[in-house]
Amino acid sequence: MIYTIVIFGASGDLTRRKLIPALYELHRKKRLPGALLIVGMARTEYSHDQWREILKEACMAQVGKHFDPTLWEEFARNIYYHPGDVSRAECFPELDQFVSELENHQPSTRIYYLALAPEFYECTVAHLGAAGMAVESSGPRRIVVEKPFGRDRESARQLNAKIHEVFAEHQIYRIDHYLGKETVANVLVLRFANTIFEPIWNRNYVDHIQITAAEDLPIGRRASFYESAGILRDMFQNHLLQLLTLTAMEPPSRVNADDIRDEKVKVLRAVRPFTPADVAANTVRGQYRKYRDEPNVPPNSQTATFGVVKLYVDNWRWQGVPFYLRSGKAMSCRTTQIVIQFREPPHMMFEGGPKHIHEANRLVLQIQPAEGIQIHFQTKVPDAGMKMRLTDLDFNFREKFAGEMPEAYERLLLDVMIGDPSLFARADEVELAWGIIDPIQQVWDAGGPPQLELYEAGGWGPPYSEEWMQRQGRRWFNVCPVLE
Ligand code: BG6
Repeated sequence: MIYTIVIFGASGDLTRRKLIPALYELHRKKRLPGALLIVGMARTEYSHDQWREILKEACMAQVGKHFDPTLWEEFARNIYYHPGDVSRAECFPELDQFVSELENHQPSTRIYYLALAPEFYECTVAHLGAAGMAVESSGPRRIVVEKPFGRDRESARQLNAKIHEVFAEHQIYRIDHYLGKETVANVLVLRFANTIFEPIWNRNYVDHIQITAAEDLPIGRRASFYESAGILRDMFQNHLLQLLTLTAMEPPSRVNADDIRDEKVKVLRAVRPFTPADVAANTVRGQYRKYRDEPNVPPNSQTATFGVVKLYVDNWRWQGVPFYLRSGKAMSCRTTQIVIQFREPPHMMFEGGPKHIHEANRLVLQIQPAEGIQIHFQTKVPDAGMKMRLTDLDFNFREKFAGEMPEAYERLLLDVMIGDPSLFARADEVELAWGIIDPIQQVWDAGGPPQLELYEAGGWGPPYSEEWMQRQGRRWFNVCPVLE
């Protein structure tokens, strides 16, 4: 079978930085399921060779020592460029003809990748439909939709409806690249392929859960996009809620796309809806001090670059257990982690034993960049009476498997090719996620409360976030990973 990936928005950053390097890596590792054709389309006029040259530079920069010029030549032979404008319907039959000729009019699995600005999603889909390019008579036809998928529940619903006019749900792959990360998939393996964690993975043993995605980089050149997004739309609606669902979901009986996604959807449905009073009490929003100096940021911008959302999953397993979701730009380091904070032992018989919840057991899932898992527990300090100290068992993926962690896009692109949508968001999942975020975004957009807290770059967000957590008798796990 021929696999053809048609990339719309081919001249953009995503194609150069993520898609082509990931496909090259799949080629290098001999993981591609069949012959691969890549066709890029964008408005810029390039010859095939010019485009290949641009991609070569970019790929070299991304894959570093894995770049092999001979392998690249082999791979690049199947890369083509077809100039065209997605807003013009007549470009699509031309594209179809171009691709069909490349495919020698043979059956193929075709993947249409929307690496475009979101305002072009709907017209591209409609034009693919009008040109008959979504019909599956000579092989599967799939569409990959990048984030952001809408900017609130209503627009996501409309976008889903528009796409469904042309593609059936089984043909649609909504990307959240966090789901392609090995350590994210491992949350399910850790929970459901072991016996020792699941019995305590509930309200009887867990005090609270912290999910943090911190980034050290500021907004930089992305301000014009970021101003209309902000941290909730950019990180919470997708990545953080995905991590929440995997952490909180019930075990599906089988590993298939619908069983997994049904369980994730149940978690989203169980999230307690936010009233404005909840938003005031249970969220924190912040902006780093230099944000307003970034190019294209208005001097009075109220856009949040940091956020905390405390939410509850109202079901039997999690009743009363707060989930603290936190993300920010210009923070002290880049780290994504899920912290399961267990309760204190029911009775402390040792004098001078731990006095605070943050000294109780903790399981830390390091999603990135120091991928691993740590179990924190009390131990006796040798030769010091009954003095105790919190120490840890530390598992590190890179050490244990002596390999490099693949890029999320490798896994995801491969799954689109073989037709496995397990790691992609379903229509209802995306809409439910927006339904959680919308009421918070509305209050924040209206100026709060909570008020916007300024913070210095290079820390853990506004000092208020620490005080707020302390008032709940808890403490943030503010630890930067140690990179070898
Ligand atoms: C993207 C956001 O979806 O995820 C970015 O738009 C963010 O703002 C990025 O920087 C983080 O991804 P990763 O894989 O580096 O954690």
